[in-house]
Amino acid sequence: MSQDLFEAARNAMKNHYSPYSDFPSGAAIRGEDGKIYAGCNIEVASYPEGWCAETTAIGCMIVGGARKILEVAVIAERTDDFTPCGGCRQRLAEFADHDTPVHLCDRNGIVKTVTMTDLMPFAFGGEALADR
Ligand code: THU
Repeated sequence: MSQDLFEAARNAMKNHYSPYSDFPSGAAIRGEDGKIYAGCNIEVASYPEGWCAETTAIGCMIVGGARKILEVAVIAERTDDFTPCGGCRQRLAEFADHDTPVHLCDRNGIVKTVTMTDLMPFAFGGEALADR
């Protein structure tokens, strides 16, 4: 069932642009519209201005018109133990639920599935801003 998400993340990783870190990464999101939105990391010569594969995938999902993340897969070529960075956890959480599955993958498939809450307990979210 989630094999398609893994394959989309692995395929997206092939388009990585990471000449500075040489750390190819990929991500794929299943939106509430049932479509898969994938992304790779994109670096720029001013290093802090580059961004992560998850961020690319989220941007594609929003442009595609979906607003809810049902499922996520992430992969990096040079490690079998890859998890989303802190900033991407916050961005994913914006569009996911506490129990949304995040599949951590290596080149062969899904290694482990965790939830958003596993990745980011005690998360800050938009509900804190509700009374503004
Ligand atoms: N990277 C991601 O794509 N996702 C993460 O969650 C962590 C890091 C990318 C950013 C940069 O291009 C490279 O990996 C090395 O940090």
